[in-house]
Amino acid sequence: MKTFLLAGIECSRVAQGCMRIGGMAPADLDRLIKTDLECGINFFDHADIYGGGSCETVFGDFLRANPGLRDKMVLQSKCGIRGGTYDFSKDHIIREAEQSLTRMGIDTLDFLLLHRPDTLVEPEEVAEAFDKLSREGKVKNFGVSNHNPYQIELLESALGGRKIVANQLQFSMTNTTMIDAGIHVNMEDGSAVNRDGGVLDYCRLKGITIQPWSPFQYGFFAGPFIGNPDYAKLNAKLDEVSARYDVTPTGMAIAWILRHPAKMQPIIGTTNPDRIAQIAKAADVTITHDEWYELYKSSGKTLP
Ligand SMILES: NC(=O)c1ccc[n+]([C@@H]2O[C@H](COP(=O)([O-])OP(=O)(O)OC[C@H]3O[C@@H](n4cnc5c(N)ncnc54)[C@H](OP(=O)(O)O)[C@@H]3O)[C@@H](O)[C@H]2O)c1
Repeated sequence: MKTFLLAGIECSRVAQGCMRIGGMAPADLDRLIKTDLECGINFFDHADIYGGGSCETVFGDFLRANPGLRDKMVLQSKCGIRGGTYDFSKDHIIREAEQSLTRMGIDTLDFLLLHRPDTLVEPEEVAEAFDKLSREGKVKNFGVSNHNPYQIELLESALGGRKIVANQLQFSMTNTTMIDAGIHVNMEDGSAVNRDGGVLDYCRLKGITIQPWSPFQYGFFAGPFIGNPDYAKLNAKLDEVSARYDVTPTGMAIAWILRHPAKMQPIIGTTNPDRIAQIAKAADVTITHDEWYELYKSSGKTLP
């Protein structure tokens, strides 16, 4: 597994998402996390709300049973969604970050992201929360999730030089709005609609790492597109291209994301160690320029 530097920390190009681990038996979770580490995946993405906190708690149970492994991991959590609304107040950010630390039994989060934009945000309050968490050694770096460029600019205007280093966004072979709009600029068709303020190019310009979430889902957690008859053309092309590289279609769906020069870090949500091994193998594959476009078009996307 290739690595890259995110805020000076060596991180795997693929991250393990922990949203679905809450109900796992300890032995299965043990196998999952150890498979990640054996495959070179050292980055784990959490949120205070996943499983109502249970995902961080069971991950903490694993760390308590394997105390030597914390130092081999990069740990990220998110906060800012509260009871069906959004809350970027200073008190909420600090309280949730501290609770994430307690649940996981760790001293420091490597990254803390603000989960979904709070339109009532006061950037100065966010800055105070970040300063306190950083000063006390509780969080090393900060980022956002589902934010557009101006929302990031607004936050950074109060952060006194502190940088937003990551932006987690929905992106997969079937959810490509942030690419479609750039390809269809100035056209009259629906794909030209710019829904995110050009977030892909903005993040590239600013050196912000995009972390695609739900890289195997179509719709909004509607289910995986791999093997789905509604995506027959995409699956046929995935079969064809993955065979060329001796990887599986599951792995190829991640190789496709990694091929984009934005150097994205996909957050995979599988809890299946076999799939993790498939993804890790394909993460070292570099498909060609033309194969990337063939796969893009096979998911039903058009070029003007
Ligand atoms: N920032 C945000 O707003 C946001 C939103 C959602 C998620 N996230 C993050 O993104 C991570 C990934 O999200 P996700 O779990 O929805 O992503 P995903 O990787 O797209 O989906 C994983 C789910 O698909 C299933 N699956 C079925 N066939 C699969 C195949 N061939 N390959 C891979 N998975 C297959 C997996 O089941 P098995 O376990 O049986 O493999 C698992 O239930 C989360 O854990 C979380 O950390 C962030």
